[in-house]
Amino acid sequence: MRSHIKTLATTALCLALSGMAYADPAEDALDIETEAGSMSIVTSAPAAAHLDGALTTVYSGWLFRDPDTRDMERDDFDNPAMVYVDLGLDKWNEPMGKNGESCASCHNGPESMKGLRATTPRVSADGKLQIMEDLINGCVTERMGLEAWGLTSGDMKNMLALIAVQSRGEVVNVAIDGPAAEFYAKGKEIYYTRYGQLEMSCANCHEDNAGNYIRADHLSQGQVSGFPVYRLKDAALVTAQQRFVGCVRDTRAETFKAGSEEFKALELYVASRGNGLGIEGVGVRH
Ligand code: HEC
Ligand code: HEC
Repeated sequence: MRSHIKTLATTALCLALSGMAYADPAEDALDIETEAGSMSIVTSAPAAAHLDGALTTVYSGWLFRDPDTRDMERDDFDNPAMVYVDLGLDKWNEPMGKNGESCASCHNGPESMKGLRATTPRVSADGKLQIMEDLINGCVTERMGLEAWGLTSGDMKNMLALIAVQSRGEVVNVAIDGPAAEFYAKGKEIYYTRYGQLEMSCANCHEDNAGNYIRADHLSQGQVSGFPVYRLKDAALVTAQQRFVGCVRDTRAETFKAGSEEFKALELYVASRGNGLGIEGVGVRH
């Protein structure tokens, strides 16, 4: 019975994939109107050498979205995520630590975080793999004496958005060698492992079928350079970790949790697949 269900589900998915045509990513350029002027974002680039030919060109997920969705990201005034960036800035300035510290007391303005988003996840001096959420929670707990923020809490997501925006336009350059090598290998293994009743890996959808339609959805390469993103469907910010949970759930698998060692390694690996793409700050997706 179980295998019968699996066969049906796999067949349905194959039909969904093959029933609709391949479509190239849009030929479009992303220039964002910001308060400080116009800013160009790299949305396609030659694939990094470490991808070993698995992809020739890497593309932002933005190029796979419809024109209306793409337009919302062209102007901060139209980007619904900017409200959350502002909330992140309020939090940044709030004296909330045990001794009344705010993030700003030690870091000054959020522009002190410029560049960070383009180089995370990264490995700490004591050999731990850290996603941005870990860096933030390190200060929240150890330097401010507070309870850690939930990885998908409003405070965390708003702060991720605020910090990401500081690196907007910078090019992803995540390290995969040295102390990062073991995490890279682990993430890569997860990326190519088939999970769930549908027995599908990340690569089955985002490498083998990028450009194809799955149901009515134009499959991208599953890059994280736009994250956190504002998802119109959820009317909320979504982190890369949350997106991984959602994608694995769609294969009807038991999923790893947001913030698990597995998904942190996966985020490092997926981020490195986008080395060369521009950080979008806060992308807009459907
Ligand atoms: C059954 C097919 C399928 C599988 C398997 C799958 N995804 Fe996805 N994924 C989608 C669809 C559909 C979307 C939404 C359209 C798009 O951006 O590709 C998506 C979106 C994404 C995005 C957002 C991209 C953006 O720019 O907004 C990321 C990141 C992502 N997937 C990563 C993963 C990872 C990592 C895995 C493996 C754990 C995975 N996906 C497995 C179908 C899949
Ligand atoms: C008591 C001082 C203090 C406070 C308060 C504080 N931090 Fe930090 N933070 C540090 C120090 C020290 C470091 C490590 C050295 C560095 O990178 O600046 C650090 C590092 C970081 C990093 C990694 C930066 C990098 O470039 O490696 C992030 C992200 C960060 N803090 C975010 C925050 C946020 C968000 C808040 C408020 C919720 C906050 N910090 C509050 C002192 C503080």
